[in-house]
Amino acid sequence: MRFTVAIDGPAAAGKGTISRGLAKRFGFAHLDTGLLYRATGRKVLETGLGPEAAALAVGPDDLARVGLRTQAVAELASQVAAIPEVRAALVAFQRDFARRDGGAVLDGRDIGTVICPEAEAKLFVTASAEVRAQRRYDELRLSGQAADFAGVLDEVLKRDARDTGRADAPMRAAEDAVLVDTSEMDIDAALKAAISVVKNRLEGHSA
Ligand code: CDP
Repeated sequence: MRFTVAIDGPAAAGKGTISRGLAKRFGFAHLDTGLLYRATGRKVLETGLGPEAAALAVGPDDLARVGLRTQAVAELASQVAAIPEVRAALVAFQRDFARRDGGAVLDGRDIGTVICPEAEAKLFVTASAEVRAQRRYDELRLSGQAADFAGVLDEVLKRDARDTGRADAPMRAAEDAVLVDTSEMDIDAALKAAISVVKNRLEGHSA
C-alpha cells in the first residue's frame, strides 16, 4: 500500500512528536525532513563543499549523526534551505521515501505543497511563537544546553520569517491541509486529532 502523510508547520509546533506518534500508530515509516537541511548545513561548514554539492552528498550516515539538533545547526539549516539548488537536490530522496510501500509520514515545511502535493493526508501543525519558544527552551534545558528565553524566542521568530519569506517553497499550509493549532493542546490531544484525520483518509483509500 502507498499512503503518504504530509505534516508541515513552524519550529517547535509539535510536528516531530505528532509524526513519530502517527508512524508508530499506523506502522508507517517516518522521515524528519529537517534533518536533511540540518545535515546539509553542517556538511557545508565541515567540508567546505558548496551548498548544492553538500546536499547531493548527504546520506543516511549524515542523518544519524549526533549533534544535528542544536540551535547553531538549525540556523545553518534555515540558511541553506533558502537556496533553490539545495532544495532541488533533496527532492528525489524525499519523494522516493514518500511513495515507499507500507506508508510514510514526512514532516517539514513544504511537504504538502511541493514535495507531495498528492499526499493522501495533510496536516499543518502550528502554535503561537511564545508557546513554541517556551517548548524549545524547555527542550534545550532538558538536554543540558544553555539557553535564555528571549534568545530562543528571537531565534524562532527569525526562522519563521526566513521560512515563510523565502521565494522557493516557502512554508505555508496546503489548501487541503487540516490545521492543528497546538497552542492550548497537550501532546496527547494533538496526536488524537492527527490520528483521527489519518484514520478518516485511510478509510476512503484502497491499494
Ligand atoms: O525542529 P525544527 O522545526 O526546529 O527544525 P527542523 O524541522 O529540523 O528544520 C530546520 C530548518 O530546515 C527550518 O528552519 C527550515 O528552514 C528548513 N526546512 C525546510 O526548509 N524544509 C523542510 N521540509 C524542513 C526543514
